[in-house]
Amino acid sequence: MAATQYLADWQAYPFQIDQTRLTFHLDPRATRVLSQIEFRRIAPGDLVLDGVGLTTLHLAIDGKPVTATPEGERLVIRDLPDAFTFQAEVQIDPQANTALEGLYLSGGMFCTQCEAQGFRHITWYPDRPDVMAPFHVTIHSDMPVLLSNGNPVSQSAGMAEWHDPWPKPAYLFALVAGDLRAVSDSFTTMSGADVALNVWVRPGDEPRAGYALESLIRSMQWDERAYGREYDLSVFNIVAVDDFNMGAMENKGLNIFNSKLVLATAETATDGDYERIEGVIGHEYFHNWTGNRITCRDWFQLCLKEGLTVFRDQQFTSDMRSAAVKRIADVQTLRARQFREDAGPLAHPPRPDHYQEINNFYTATVYEKGAEVIGMLKRLVGDDAYRAALDLYFSRHDGQACTIEDWIAVFQDATGRDLTQFKLWYTDAGTPRLTMTETFTDGTLVLDFAQTTAPTPGQPEKPARVIPIALGLIGPNGDQVLDTTVLEMTDATQSFRFDGLGARPVVSLLRGFSAPVTVTRQMSPADQALLLAHDTDPFARWQAGHDLALDGLIARATGATGGAEFIRALAGVLDDAPADPAFAALCLALPGDEEIATTIATRGAVPDPDAIHAARRAMMTEIATAYEAQFAGLYDAMATETYHPDAKGAGRRSLRLACLAYLSRLDGGDRAQHLFASADNMTERQGALEQLIATGRAAQPLAEFEAQFRDNRLVMDKWFMVQPLRAAPGDAVARARELAARPDFDWKNPNRFRALIAGLTANHAAFHAADGSGYDFVAEWLMKLDPVNAQTTARMSSAFETFARYDTARQAKARAALQRIADLPGLSRNTAEMVTRILA
Ligand code: ARG
Ligand code: ZN
Repeated sequence: MAATQYLADWQAYPFQIDQTRLTFHLDPRATRVLSQIEFRRIAPGDLVLDGVGLTTLHLAIDGKPVTATPEGERLVIRDLPDAFTFQAEVQIDPQANTALEGLYLSGGMFCTQCEAQGFRHITWYPDRPDVMAPFHVTIHSDMPVLLSNGNPVSQSAGMAEWHDPWPKPAYLFALVAGDLRAVSDSFTTMSGADVALNVWVRPGDEPRAGYALESLIRSMQWDERAYGREYDLSVFNIVAVDDFNMGAMENKGLNIFNSKLVLATAETATDGDYERIEGVIGHEYFHNWTGNRITCRDWFQLCLKEGLTVFRDQQFTSDMRSAAVKRIADVQTLRARQFREDAGPLAHPPRPDHYQEINNFYTATVYEKGAEVIGMLKRLVGDDAYRAALDLYFSRHDGQACTIEDWIAVFQDATGRDLTQFKLWYTDAGTPRLTMTETFTDGTLVLDFAQTTAPTPGQPEKPARVIPIALGLIGPNGDQVLDTTVLEMTDATQSFRFDGLGARPVVSLLRGFSAPVTVTRQMSPADQALLLAHDTDPFARWQAGHDLALDGLIARATGATGGAEFIRALAGVLDDAPADPAFAALCLALPGDEEIATTIATRGAVPDPDAIHAARRAMMTEIATAYEAQFAGLYDAMATETYHPDAKGAGRRSLRLACLAYLSRLDGGDRAQHLFASADNMTERQGALEQLIATGRAAQPLAEFEAQFRDNRLVMDKWFMVQPLRAAPGDAVARARELAARPDFDWKNPNRFRALIAGLTANHAAFHAADGSGYDFVAEWLMKLDPVNAQTTARMSSAFETFARYDTARQAKARAALQRIADLPGLSRNTAEMVTRILA
């Protein structure tokens, strides 16, 4: 078992680097990397360099060969002068690199991924984010396009030179060499500097890169407008690669993207894909200031850049599209991924204080909760103070590698507030539970709040946190009697009173989801229906309907009756639907099986996946029957003419598909079949296909889809994903096994692997099949992938993180599957850490 790294052990690096020069002689099997690094001492200590899997050919200090022997993955050189040049020549094998970390090949092109610790797979270097240097890179290769960070210095046949003047840590290094074509534009920054913009794709993919390029321009404009941040090089390159472990990477001036987050046409990408492309292009671009110009001192501080950059990309999408719809979608993701993580064996704070493998900490907690914490901070200090604090952050810390303490100090200094208690949001794991009880007498409403947070691994005690509680009051006739007010809760229990009320109001609680907490309150279905009909806060309005549906579904899944009030309240939602189709679609979507199971578990009972699945289907059929005419009318009315991937069109299509899901319960898939055959866009084709799979009429459409898209990897990923996802739970594992046996199940490609395996794990009743077949299938494939790509294996093992909430028979089967993974000889450090934590 690998050693645990602790935040408390961090020590400053004793040297500064004035210049890093790298020369690459690219070759698929034997790439040679020459480095020349100018070190200058700033404190006593030895030179420690990181390197993994390198064939070291030559090492020298100031031109004199040295014979240092690597101690594992480190090279330690002692007795050095105060300033010297370190030189190394190493050889690496990009073609053997299936882990996709460091320098590797994807579809015949060379590319890199260095965050978090990939650079040590390229050459000996202080591979830590607080060692920053300007880079000068020379690439020798017969590939036509040779790219690295910064500005181009010279290009000639077989060679290119790049210079990045902005000091950066090694994790932001990038190199690309391939037969690529650019889709280009230019941008003039607010101070008048011209920037060449290129999106690099494989020949033939140029027509699919336009939306990414437009999104980049919108991102650059937005960051100038919203944060006063300007771009700082003469060129900005984006490269799409097919083999990539995560979404994308913010390497300075040379972002590298998973091709699924770049390539899109109406025929091949859904509205959701377009929105993600825009959001991730923004995210990586925004990192130029929040991540690159100001980076992290160490990897424990990862949320310093990721939480802030997610928060910024969420703001960007809200501004480009519908803020209300974006907020609801973000909260749904947060609950599905982060609350789930926070409630289980993998719970950790946004700023962890120890880890074994840092790649296991690119989590929903670091990213999404990290963003929520910033949203709370902004709500507490106000918009103007937030902007002032950010201005101070940029001016004070430009060029530095920082900590969460630096970030908090900026807010304290800009606002004069003491944020000591607020900092608990960064250092403590777990989702606080906020309980509210209300009493109303003689025109006075008293709200009693209590907060508790359950223990998480390694953190038994949970002191009270600062919780901004945004609320409003709605009168019995539906009028708002109190506009949004933010209460600041700081104690374990606290009361707030509201006087002078004519009648008992309904509390619209946690408006805009003002804090990442779960809420417990007694509320009658009538009050929930009142909020669903009249709340002025769109998030709280959606939440009221969602809770009503969830309560009904849970009652049904646990042998009681329920849901009648929700079904009745939908009449109002359907009446209002044409005015805001995207919002209506969110209100019409029933909570998924996973959320129902989570909520049952949170309430102290054992969820039954089959009963949950049956209850949800039955309720859908009932709703469909009750409103068949309205669904049919809306389905026709929401047809779109020419496809545009904008929020307006996407909203209409989302409502249309929400209606189709209900109608397919009654028409046996007739409409879906017609839509599948006639739609001119992937959003509706995929939506229709999913309904056809669920109704068991998909054999022919699946064959047609395959015939049409067999040569398009990204579209075929959808084909692999929807089948296990939408198949009846009893058939899904068998179907997944058939798909896994196909020659085009190119499982070493992370997108393809994830499509099939995560498609199955997202089918709740199939993954948690009583016979353990879901667990066995997933464990089998994780064991197969681990030696090839440990990072993706480890990430996907979190499918098991909820196993302890199910019945003892299922638990035993999941535990056995996890134990088989744990016992695999040579199991990676990545997966070993995950499985050990899940089993603990
Ligand atoms: N910094 C990237 C982002 O934009 C994530 C890259 C992480 N990759 C990894 N292998 N850990 O969020
Ligand atoms: Zn990021």
